[in-house]
Amino acid sequence: MSLLNILEYPDPRLRTVAAKVDGFGPQLQAFCDDLLETMYAAPGIGLAATQVDVHKRIIAVDVSENRNEPHILVNPRLTLHGELIDGEEGCLSVPGIYEQVQRAERITVNAQNPQGEAFSLEAEGLLAVCIQHECDHLEGKLFVDYLSNLKRNRIRKKLQKQQKQRA
Ligand code: NI
Repeated sequence: MSLLNILEYPDPRLRTVAAKVDGFGPQLQAFCDDLLETMYAAPGIGLAATQVDVHKRIIAVDVSENRNEPHILVNPRLTLHGELIDGEEGCLSVPGIYEQVQRAERITVNAQNPQGEAFSLEAEGLLAVCIQHECDHLEGKLFVDYLSNLKRNRIRKKLQKQQKQRA
């Protein structure tokens, strides 16, 4: 397994719309393992393939306390249920920034596992929020897009400054 490099906002590659996965096999399985490993190492509770510059519809999530309930969702399709609720979100591609975002309180997600088998998952609470956040990445959307222009610009400048200092 290997750790993958995580793109950071405002990297334009984060705006890429991911393509449907239609080939399943050892190569896809290896990538899914790397994606999960990279998420755990970061550490984070979710990571989309988009964030590691692979523009395929794959997300990894694990919101469990013991980091032992991984979900890999290939070609996820969301159905939103319930009311919109406010919650604080962060993102491995927007390090150090946490802001309130509204999300549906419950979801159903239909997806495939890395072997190509279809399954359906019902989620609420943090897991539901996390899956919605990760599915946004596959559309080239980031949680900062839900904030005001003023706030987003401030975040962009702050991160660009950090990136320049590191370079
Ligand atoms: Ni994110």
